[in-house]
Amino acid sequence: MCGIVAYLGQKRAEPILVEGLKRLEYRGYDSSGIAVIGPEKMRLVRSAGRISNLEELLTEENIIGTLGVAHTRWATHGKPSTENAHPHLDHTGRIAIVHNGIIENYTTLKQWLIEKGCSFSSETDSEVIANLISFFYHDRANLDLPEGRDEPAGHLTAATRLALRELAGTYGIAVICQDAPDVLITARRGSPIVLGVGDGEFVVASDVAAIIKHTSQAVYLGDNEMAVISRDGYQTSTIDNVPVASRIEQIEYLLEEIELAGFDHYMAKEIFEQPKTLKACLSGRLDTNEGRIQLGGIADISRELVRARRINIAACGTAWHAGLVGEYLFEELAGLPTDVDYASEFRYRNPIIEEGTIQIVVSQSGETIDTLAALREARQRGALSLGVVNSVGSTIARETDAGIYLHVGPEIGVASTKAFTGQVAVLTMLALYIARRRHMSQQRLSEYINALNRIPDQVDTILTQSDTIRQVAQEYSQRENWLFLGRGYQFPVALEGALKLKEISYIHAEGLPAAEMKHGPIALITPEMPVVFIATHCSQYEKVMGNMEEVKARGGRIIAVATEGDERINNYADHVFSIPDTLDELQPLLTVVPLQLLAYHAAVIRGHDVDKPRNLDKSVTVE
Ligand code: M6R
Repeated sequence: MCGIVAYLGQKRAEPILVEGLKRLEYRGYDSSGIAVIGPEKMRLVRSAGRISNLEELLTEENIIGTLGVAHTRWATHGKPSTENAHPHLDHTGRIAIVHNGIIENYTTLKQWLIEKGCSFSSETDSEVIANLISFFYHDRANLDLPEGRDEPAGHLTAATRLALRELAGTYGIAVICQDAPDVLITARRGSPIVLGVGDGEFVVASDVAAIIKHTSQAVYLGDNEMAVISRDGYQTSTIDNVPVASRIEQIEYLLEEIELAGFDHYMAKEIFEQPKTLKACLSGRLDTNEGRIQLGGIADISRELVRARRINIAACGTAWHAGLVGEYLFEELAGLPTDVDYASEFRYRNPIIEEGTIQIVVSQSGETIDTLAALREARQRGALSLGVVNSVGSTIARETDAGIYLHVGPEIGVASTKAFTGQVAVLTMLALYIARRRHMSQQRLSEYINALNRIPDQVDTILTQSDTIRQVAQEYSQRENWLFLGRGYQFPVALEGALKLKEISYIHAEGLPAAEMKHGPIALITPEMPVVFIATHCSQYEKVMGNMEEVKARGGRIIAVATEGDERINNYADHVFSIPDTLDELQPLLTVVPLQLLAYHAAVIRGHDVDKPRNLDKSVTVE
């Protein structure tokens, strides 16, 4: 939800800010803008639409200045327009802010500020932050200034603190002021902020993608923390001004990992990267010689895991689908009762956390607010928590008791692909780890380890079918309703296949357990309806064949994902995508790949912007 970049250093801020915005465009893309403090005054340039529109405007400006803030927006309050685009200035035009999050009490604050004489020029909640800071900044009587800070930078810092105390809701912000050309302030509650610490320069951003070009050293701001950055250094504290000792961490990503590398879209790059990312995810964790699974991140809680009485999983979207695969895995392999929750629902019921419950949260970004809220709720109710997260240093990764990183590298495409296979791989390893310590034989575990080791190469062979899949996508791309059906481990994959098609092709698609079709959805089946079956060789194969017969008898068009060498499937299916054979429990790692490609090709054929689908955003940090 929105991307923030801010710069303070020796170089011209404008190109650094614009480049940073482009790196963060996947977080929001309905408008953008920059504000830079120049030699004489604040320069503000904003534009509705994509960042390319902003760039065009900037070619006509000559913006000098080494301190600035920038923003790319995903609209919450107020339509996407130039007036609503960030940065927002206070009513005197001296203070500029960028904001990610939602200010819940903004109407009350706005009214109060209007009564005090402030004027507003946008419909956003964010503009109140600029005016609230401005109010305290100009009303010096309220400022509690430490010795020696009676100068603009000190006023701005104190005013920002006072303003933040009044805000209800979530924010990641960056603040600059024309009177204090050597200070940049940033703070967060609920929305991520990373401070990149370079050589004589600082880059603040919503995530490291906008920072790594400049430095690999970063400070991840904690919730309710603030950093005051000057040209010589920075200080971190809580918003209430209690000093916080910040820890500089090494950013793990390399710049190449967030480049397109010759692909047209990040989604395609990330689908095709999966053999490599799965290898990285499994690497060092499967000990083939000893026949063991090693998961460093859970060492501290391994006893509790093995003795656990129940597992709860909370996640959203694709990560929730991975969690559903996890439910089958934990129950089947480890014999552990498991529930999976939509994270957004978890804290709004009365979740029962019994003794011995392990709460697993699954999240690519590690910042999804619903998942974070579920995690906090579960911990408060006494659960031990474990994060399955991709983004290193993210809030969820830091707030869980233990965690296993995916190690699949940054995922930029809004449609999650390599993160899903990484999440399923991690959950599989975790289930096997627990299973071995509870009852699984060494021989059985070794069979899983060997089969897991073959998965990356097997994904590679599936990817060679991309052209065939594109032709099928072409044939059906104008059909507006699709069904995706699977049983057992393939039910969550059916849900994931449907979600992928929906979010980037804008085709209505529904995923169902194959047998549920008879209880209603079968009424929809006509020759117009493509039905995708995940019909691999597994314990439920015969039953799935029965469901296919039912669809065929009603004239439905069948696209099947089947096991290589299956001749029988041709009696039912109009089109077949093959996957190499593997153990039932590992099949989701393979069967999802043709469905990712199907959705990708359908979206491209329909002419959509695959990496920036309508109304969506990569990291959902508002409820
Ligand atoms: O970052 P997270 O994994 O927590 O994100 C959860 C969902 O928002 C995400 O998986 C979403 O459903 C994707 N756009 C699906 O492709």
